[in-house]
Amino acid sequence: MFVRMDHPSPAHPKTRVLFVCLGNICRSPLAEGVFRHLAEEAGLAHQFDIDSAGTGSWHVGEPPDARASLVASKHGITLESRGRQVTREDFQRFDYVIAMDRDNLRVLERMKAETGSDAVVALLRSFDPEADGDDVPDPYYGGSSGFEQVFQIIRKACRGLLEQLPKQTA
Ligand code: 4NP
Repeated sequence: MFVRMDHPSPAHPKTRVLFVCLGNICRSPLAEGVFRHLAEEAGLAHQFDIDSAGTGSWHVGEPPDARASLVASKHGITLESRGRQVTREDFQRFDYVIAMDRDNLRVLERMKAETGSDAVVALLRSFDPEADGDDVPDPYYGGSSGFEQVFQIIRKACRGLLEQLPKQTA
C-alpha cells in the first residue's frame, strides 16, 4: 500500500493518522482505539498522533455508540473519542486519512483534491493483505454481533497499517 517516505520528518516527528467513517461513533472510534492500543503494545505510541472523525455531522460531540465501547472494552480497550466532523484543516494536519469504506473514501478524495493536500487517503482494509472485501461494514443498524465482527476486521487491518507505516528506528 502507499506510504509516505517523507514522514516522519524532523519538522513533524510524529506520524499523524486520522480514521474516518460516516458518523464517528462506531467504526472510526474503534479504529482509533485499536490502532492506539496496538501502537502502545509495540512500544510505538509516542511516534503517532491518532484521531478519528466522521464525514457526517449528526453525532458531533457524542461519545462512541455503547455497542462499540462494549466490544472494545471486552478486548481491553477504552474508547475516549467524541464525535466530530472531518474538516479541510485535517488535510493539512494529518499524513494519513484512512477511510472505513468506499463511500467515505470518495468524500475524502474530493476534499483532498479541493485542499491540494498531499495526505495519503486510503481504505483501512487495503492494509490487510488477506482482506476479503474493501469496506469495514457499517454496524450501526445491525445487532451487537456485528460489532465483534467489525472489531476483528478493524484489528486485522490496523495490524497491517501499523506494520506498513514508516517508523523511527532510533
Ligand atoms: P459509523 O456508523 O459511521 O461507523 O460511526 C454510523 C453511525 C451513525 C449513522 C450511520 C453510521 N447514522 O446514520 O446516524
